[in-house]
Amino acid sequence: SRQWRGVIEEYRDLLDLPPDTAAVTLREGGTPLVHSHWLSGLSGAEVWLKVEGDNPTCSFKDRGMTTAISLAVHEGAKAVVCASTGNTSASMAAYAARAGLTPLVLVPEGKIAAGKMAQAILHGAQIIMVRGNFDHCLTMAKELSWSYPVALVNSVNPARLEGQKTAAFEIVDFLGDAPDYHLLPVGNAGNIAAYWLGYTQYADLGRATKRPVMRGFQAAGAAPLVTGEPFPDPETKATAIRIGNPASWKLAEAARDESGGRFAAVTDEQILSAQRDLASRDGVFVEPASAAGIAGILQELAQGESYAGRRVVITVTGHGLKDTATALEAFGELVDVVVDADVEAAARAAGLA
Ligand code: F0G
Repeated sequence: SRQWRGVIEEYRDLLDLPPDTAAVTLREGGTPLVHSHWLSGLSGAEVWLKVEGDNPTCSFKDRGMTTAISLAVHEGAKAVVCASTGNTSASMAAYAARAGLTPLVLVPEGKIAAGKMAQAILHGAQIIMVRGNFDHCLTMAKELSWSYPVALVNSVNPARLEGQKTAAFEIVDFLGDAPDYHLLPVGNAGNIAAYWLGYTQYADLGRATKRPVMRGFQAAGAAPLVTGEPFPDPETKATAIRIGNPASWKLAEAARDESGGRFAAVTDEQILSAQRDLASRDGVFVEPASAAGIAGILQELAQGESYAGRRVVITVTGHGLKDTATALEAFGELVDVVVDADVEAAARAAGLA
């Protein structure tokens, strides 16, 4: 047996990278596909969760960061920059630290979950908080990369999508074919574009007989792909997807149209309740944004949509421990029992005695 080597070495011949690019890796990818007993039972479908919180920095971003940072080093970069709602910055900072690059991060002030901020700080990023939203930060990061010697590693950098598409490869490798449907949260829309690249590549190679129908879910307060218009003031408790003008808008629409898919919006209430249900029923704790695809399938089932007899993969994009504040704010009142240090008191409070 051998250790998983990370997405570059596992899939190098399928990635559009210069062949001699040395891999900067934390052995990302190889994440579990966990059967959802709960959602399978509810829908009559075979529902699988692609658990991306099991990556080294606890989100799917590591797949694209290993490729983007490896290429940046290959091209001689000394510093890297990104705009982020938190996870990209955590991932970039970790891979930059490993590669000896200087990481510079632009984030919307006050809108980053504490776990992600702690990661970026500890990995040594220089963090600039911007009085604005993610979309402002991305514009600034791009312009910095045009004018100064810092390489941009947001998903507008094609190397990011090259790495991220490996999630689709892993799913097909495990299931033996592409699923019928793939559901996922959508923010800046890089991930849905990357999955579509991966599924398409595998179908073209004959490694899959089909491509899935892609369904993307956005927060109702930040749903430009649903309405077709940018949101100048995106707002949602799912801060990871608090984005009003996604960079990969066109690629996301192509994935939708070529797959016969669609985008839909889910409210913060639906997202938080899906987050809790997934944790309490399937044992999988994800951050709020990551539950958007779960909220999405629940909404569709409630609307009478049928997935019965089909195979469905839902990507859950980041770990629940990234953002405990939002979880505790929503559900912390559920912890309300305090007793003296006395076993009988505990037994009575627990309803055992
Ligand atoms: N889920 C999580 C946990 C995310 O962090 C993101 C994006 C998404 C979903 C949406 O993915 O942007 O490819 O459509 N986070 C970015 C960041 C924007 O800066 O960490 P997308």
